[in-house]
Amino acid sequence: MANVIAIDGPSGAGKSSVSRIVGERLGYLHVDSGALYRIMTWQCLENRVDTSDPRAVADFAATVEIECCPENGAIAYYVKGEAPGNRIRTPEINAHASPVATVKEVRDRITAILRGMTAYGNLVVEGRDITTAVFPDSPARFYLTASAEARAARRQKEEVEKGIANQSAETVKASLLARDKIDSTRKYAPLRKADGAMEIDSSDLTLEQVVETVLAALPAEWKSGILSA
Ligand code: DC
Repeated sequence: MANVIAIDGPSGAGKSSVSRIVGERLGYLHVDSGALYRIMTWQCLENRVDTSDPRAVADFAATVEIECCPENGAIAYYVKGEAPGNRIRTPEINAHASPVATVKEVRDRITAILRGMTAYGNLVVEGRDITTAVFPDSPARFYLTASAEARAARRQKEEVEKGIANQSAETVKASLLARDKIDSTRKYAPLRKADGAMEIDSSDLTLEQVVETVLAALPAEWKSGILSA
């Protein structure tokens, strides 16, 4: 069985950067589970499926084929041979992804895809329900958080740098808090800190400090191959 490092937390807590670097240091594949929910959302919008109608979303999601393959240290995704790229990072997708992620059939499908990825090797998987529902038995589970202000500032900077959007910090914060609310109050696999997961508040920590905290907490036998910074 492959080793799985599971990292959950709200938007903008730094999960992607931390997961990517931890994966690089250990030679584990980075898995962005949120991208799968974003791809489902993108496909719903492209095909004019009403994302506020759970039945319509469930029926449509069953028809979406997502190809997954290891590429440059991560699992890459394709739909009909096309990489989604920044099309799944827009404010429009942000607004529709949380409702799509409340649909049980969508969650079951994505959970099965994620579990199947252990066939590719050791993984660092980030998301909202990885520590609680997808890989609850992993001995390496983390809940990464940060203040809403710190998270909004990071997301806003990222959107501007990547040329995705140019929204004010206030607008980004409002959208992020709205998603947090849906993600943490939904019926199926809501975002919460799992019992036994290590909580790390990254508000006042550097990225390297968070990475070091994660690496230090891993089971000893997983650490033999760590590459230094
Ligand atoms: O991490 P992200 O912002 O890319 O996630 C996009 C959406 O998908 C967000 O609304 C939360 C949801 N999500 C989820 O419900 N479960 C996961 N494991 C990952 C993301």
